[in-house]
Amino acid sequence: MTKNKVYIETYGCQMNLSDSEIVSSILEKSGYQIIHDATNADVIFLNTCSVRDNAENKIKERLKHLRRNKKDNKELVVGILGCMAERLRQKLIDEQEIVSMVVGPDEYRKVPQLIDKAYKGEKGIAVKLSRVETYDDIEPLRTDGLSAWVSIMRGCDKFCTYCVVPFTRGRERSRRANSIVNEIIKLSESGFKEVTLLGQNVNSYKDMEANIDFPALLAAVSDAVPDMRIRYTTSHPYDMSDRLIETMAKYDNICNYIHLPVQSGADRILKLMNRDYTVEHYLERIAKIKELLPNASISTDIISGFPGETDEEHQLTLALMRQVKYDGAFMFKYSPRENTKVWDMPDDIDEKTKTKRLNEIIELQHQISRQLNENELGRIHRILVEGESKKKKTEWQGRTDTNKVVIFTHTEDVKIGDFINVKITGSTSATLFGTRV
Ligand code: 5AD
Ligand code: SF4
Repeated sequence: MTKNKVYIETYGCQMNLSDSEIVSSILEKSGYQIIHDATNADVIFLNTCSVRDNAENKIKERLKHLRRNKKDNKELVVGILGCMAERLRQKLIDEQEIVSMVVGPDEYRKVPQLIDKAYKGEKGIAVKLSRVETYDDIEPLRTDGLSAWVSIMRGCDKFCTYCVVPFTRGRERSRRANSIVNEIIKLSESGFKEVTLLGQNVNSYKDMEANIDFPALLAAVSDAVPDMRIRYTTSHPYDMSDRLIETMAKYDNICNYIHLPVQSGADRILKLMNRDYTVEHYLERIAKIKELLPNASISTDIISGFPGETDEEHQLTLALMRQVKYDGAFMFKYSPRENTKVWDMPDDIDEKTKTKRLNEIIELQHQISRQLNENELGRIHRILVEGESKKKKTEWQGRTDTNKVVIFTHTEDVKIGDFINVKITGSTSATLFGTRV
């Protein structure tokens, strides 16, 4: 019997989701079959995240569970992909007995040959970072059919002092613009309705040979597929240019949604974080966004409890949140990561204070989201229908151009992938409710 069934479990950011589709594509071309349940798998991959300690702990717990699968099937191959593979390398093989393959983000082309080795009982490791690998020629194996991730660049050169990503994903490099545009035209032709351009720091995108930067790429994509919704993530506030905001304003099909991580509301902390901007610069960018894109929704990332953060500095973060009024936020406790610059600073904000500050941030964001969503009552939104809502089968959900989920009662004439108009009739801090108009 051929052993060719591979199951991939993905953790962490959208880039990892996109990478899992790239690995799946590489594997299918080599004769493997991608399955969606671990039970009958010959190979189980965990595509992992290292950004915070708890992300890594989750994987360690998962590996404990997988020991049972290995007991049931002695020939099962377990492999670690992604950032944890890159960060821990040989250590994973040494410390986790069931792991027989460790493959970093720039070595996915080697996955088929490493599986062959693993079948022979050899442990394999491939963790070289590349300055050129973009998997430009690989068409990701997608399962969704409606909304697609397209990675436009890899790596990060920003070196924020708390962040492990520049070490696990290596140097910034961009894909060719024409290859990105062609991929998206194909997606449109095969029925996809929405695309999200992905990069750790999309503002640094540059196709050197064609002289195309991120605003120009966004315009080219938008022109090529006028019926598709275009999203992107993530922007860095330092180089969020007027041209980018103007491009978003000019094209109807570029969504009115910007994720602009601020991390902290205190200049001293931003400086220690090597974020390259001040609160004043950040707020000036927000003002420009609100001027040119008055209907845009804005979300952010916030880190609480950075080394040395005073209570006053924490209050400054809360004040900034009140001023910007984010539609949503991803909020984290600072987690020390080895190799980063701050690793050498004492992690001196005790757990209780970190938790208290984080809870205040979460509570405030909750209030702001609830208020902003209440303001939506009576408004009409064009939503892209995604399918059944997570809670109730008779209710369906769609998404506004501003990236808000709207729940509505399903009728037979509405299909996944339709654009329909709904009037907002109810709201919570996380969800809108609407009726079709
Ligand atoms: N601790 C806590 N949060 C972190 N992030 C990145 N590194 C860390 C860390 N060491 C957060 C940042 C970033 C998001 C993807 O993860 O807010 O924007
Ligand atoms: Fe990490 Fe900063 Fe790069 Fe984002 S921009 S991936 S936070 S180093």
